[in-house]
Amino acid sequence: MLSMSSVTSLYIHVPFCRHLCNYCDFYKQKFERPSAQREEFSQYILGSLKRHESILSENHHSWEPLETLYLGGGTASLWDVEGADCFESLGLKLAQDCEATLEIDPGAWTEEGLMAWKKLGINRYSVGTQSFDTHHLKLLDRAHDLNETKVLLERLKGENFSVDFLLGAPEKNQARDVIKELESLLSYSPKHLSLYILQPAAGYKLKALIPDDEITSKEYLRVSEFLRSRGFHHYEVSNFALPGFESRHNRRYWESQSVAALGPTAVGYLDQEKEAIRYKWKPSAPEVEKEILTLKDIKLEQLYLRLRTSEPISAQRLSLEPNAFERRIEKWEARGLCERVARGWRMKPEAWVILDSLVEDLFDIMI
Ligand SMILES: C[S@@+](CC[C@H](N)C(=O)[O-])C[C@H]1O[C@@H](n2cnc3c(N)ncnc32)[C@H](O)[C@@H]1O
Ligand code: SF4
Repeated sequence: MLSMSSVTSLYIHVPFCRHLCNYCDFYKQKFERPSAQREEFSQYILGSLKRHESILSENHHSWEPLETLYLGGGTASLWDVEGADCFESLGLKLAQDCEATLEIDPGAWTEEGLMAWKKLGINRYSVGTQSFDTHHLKLLDRAHDLNETKVLLERLKGENFSVDFLLGAPEKNQARDVIKELESLLSYSPKHLSLYILQPAAGYKLKALIPDDEITSKEYLRVSEFLRSRGFHHYEVSNFALPGFESRHNRRYWESQSVAALGPTAVGYLDQEKEAIRYKWKPSAPEVEKEILTLKDIKLEQLYLRLRTSEPISAQRLSLEPNAFERRIEKWEARGLCERVARGWRMKPEAWVILDSLVEDLFDIMI
């Protein structure tokens, strides 16, 4: 018989936004009927928690006080006070040192909402900044302007907050000076930054204005060097943190640990002894599609995920044949893609811009 495992991480997907950005492929609806949409979503969450109990028990898991909580979206801050009330009624407990993050979009939050969430234990914020330049915010089709971003960042001064930023964004006439944007952003003292390379939704109308891969890779490496010179640790392909402020929630995904999920299209993962379960919530009703991952699937995912972080890797951690691994990694070292450290090898940002080809290079030596 399988022993019971505990779930101590939860992600909730809040599926509405005040404007639907033209590049975005995430599940969301336009926020046109605030009270009705908040209410419908709260009902969905309450309904899904009941269904979730059976998913947990069928898969030998039970809730323990949450050590990480992440409210994302869509635009999580639009759930507002009603969201905090709904979350409270779920009855889920937060551990004393829980890392509890709320995503906020500039111009899409209220003071009452922030206070209500803080009272429940939210102690970290993620701000959808994307650019710190008026012209490029417009080109990116963002609903907010630079002033709304500044108002929010001023409000969060002194708090533990992260900012999201897009690289490889469309450019027209005026080239983008990302370092200048980041210089201004750092004056608000974020503890963490997530920088994503834009992967636009199908049919993106500004595709022709997106810089080519070579330009974007150079931008990425320039940004990495700049943020490292300012004391940030580039600890995962897209993530930078001041020491001690790495995201504990995201680390759980990267380490293939159990993370529960609620909300339309949200994906949960339950780790078991010899397999794992992944489930995805349907938008139409609080029901899930389930997938069983075998040990082989898990090892393949771990190969991808572990090469994405700056945690030391080794043949054992990646489930690779040791002698063949040594020969290949020494070639990577000679190309300046990784370095030898006390507990193995550490990937460098130069490797992350060609990561897919590096992972493929290891398929034939998996054990
Ligand atoms: C799903 S969004 C939710 C956050 C918030 N609604 C926002 O847009 O600011 C999370 C982050 O994913 C990133 N993102 C969204 N669409 C993307 C895309 N097509 N390619 C790369 N990153 C994207 C953005 O940086 C965004 O902050
Ligand atoms: S605000 Fe965020 S989630 Fe909403 S459409 Fe824009 S990028 Fe997508």
